[in-house]
Amino acid sequence: MAVEKTLSIVKPDGVQNGHIGHVISVFEANGLTIRAAKLAWLTTAQAEGFYAEHKGRGFFGELIEFMTSGPVLLICLEGENAIAKNRELMGATDPAQASDGTIRKLYAESKGRNTVHGSDGGASAARELRYFFAEAFEFC
Ligand code: CMP
Repeated sequence: MAVEKTLSIVKPDGVQNGHIGHVISVFEANGLTIRAAKLAWLTTAQAEGFYAEHKGRGFFGELIEFMTSGPVLLICLEGENAIAKNRELMGATDPAQASDGTIRKLYAESKGRNTVHGSDGGASAARELRYFFAEAFEFC
């Protein structure tokens, strides 16, 4: 297994509902280290750029509206197998399909309001970390 870095986002529902602390404690209890983190209120342009691969899909407008509805916590995670580990800890996109004990099973309301985002592979992790942490890329 390799040491990897990946992007996690605590989405507006997770921030508003007070789940930042628990989400971070789940990461740390599972061997993931916080290398960088910042609270941000995304602009429409930032959210559209981040989710550009989903442009044209039926849920895109709803996704952008939700992701700009309040602050998010952007986190650079590092650890052994961090990309897959973060996805395992998050659970499935649809909370109805998420395994017991996962963050989305605990807190997500729907596919859209699903509390956390995690990079889905090495290429997207590199792109997403650079997108939000360009100024600190030597750390994350
Ligand atoms: P995320 O991991 O942030 O990446 C893309 C997001 O699109 C995904 O989580 C979901 O929140 C959202 N998404 C995917 N499918 C749907 C859907 N059918 N309806 C609303 N949002 C969706």
